[in-house]
Amino acid sequence: MNSIVVNLRLQDKHALLTGAAGGIGLAVATAYLQHGARCTVADIGAQPTPELGALISAHPDTLHYVRTDVTELAQIDALIAAAQQRFGPITTLFNNAAIFDMAPLLDSGEAMFDKMFAVNVKGAFFVMQKVLTQMVAHKVQGGAVVNMASQAGRRGEALVSHYCATKAAVISYTQSAALAMAPHKIRVNGIAPGVIATPMWQHVDALFAKYENLPLGEKKKRVGEAVPLGYMGEPGDICGAAVFLASDEASYITAQTLNVDGGSVMS
Ligand SMILES: NC(=O)c1ccc[n+]([C@@H]2O[C@H](COP(=O)([O-])OP(=O)(O)OC[C@H]3O[C@@H](n4cnc5c(N)ncnc54)[C@H](O)[C@@H]3O)[C@@H](O)[C@H]2O)c1
Repeated sequence: MNSIVVNLRLQDKHALLTGAAGGIGLAVATAYLQHGARCTVADIGAQPTPELGALISAHPDTLHYVRTDVTELAQIDALIAAAQQRFGPITTLFNNAAIFDMAPLLDSGEAMFDKMFAVNVKGAFFVMQKVLTQMVAHKVQGGAVVNMASQAGRRGEALVSHYCATKAAVISYTQSAALAMAPHKIRVNGIAPGVIATPMWQHVDALFAKYENLPLGEKKKRVGEAVPLGYMGEPGDICGAAVFLASDEASYITAQTLNVDGGSVMS
């Protein structure tokens, strides 16, 4: 008789995922569920997107949605309380919510700076800090954080200065938090994706078209062709690293930001 061996690498974990109503976050939530985790998903929309709604319908006992704006600290507290009430202490954080915008450096004004840093840095930091506080309070075993950085955090870009700076901050906070949490045996790592075909990239392509005077779709085509592996990634291309870093298989890995980018950045 044939038997199928299913390796549930996140069994008994409770993962909190931000910005997971679509794109990479939704793909990683799907993978975490497949590996046995209970998942609390947060995003800014009042209701789950249709794609997330379908996932909740398929996993009503192991997935729930909490509307949260990560720039509001009171909403982060409410999210963590709701998550704990539903599935117990959070063991795993996929810290993913972010926004993208760009402009020539000399035109990158205060409003864009404030908005990008509010979501990508303040939101990411306080979600992480508050989840870590709860992990320490509950003496969570096998606690792990995966922060979503970017290849943009490795190197500046003339047109993308604020976004690059926010993602460099995520890499730095990942290192500091990993050191702060090492005595508690909680691991903190990051992922630096390259270019991944998500809703965010429709917005990115349109902005590059405007500033580089390109037809729509041309920037996306060019960046995909420039990847050493020869194509733009899909959200599912992030899942292997996201599951691994969250799992106990990565028990001796902390303070790292892993490039998942088809070879674009070398470390
Ligand atoms: N797509 C890429 O090429 C790429 C490359 C490198 C890094 N990343 C990073 O990967 C992560 C996921 O990106 P994606 O491409 O799936 O983008 P996306 O835009 O599809 O997803 C981001 C999610 O964050 C949510 N969000 C935005 N502001 C929020 C707020 N204030 N509170 C709560 N949720 C909020 C959005 O609603 C959205 O669902 C981001 O951190 C992004 O910076 C993406």
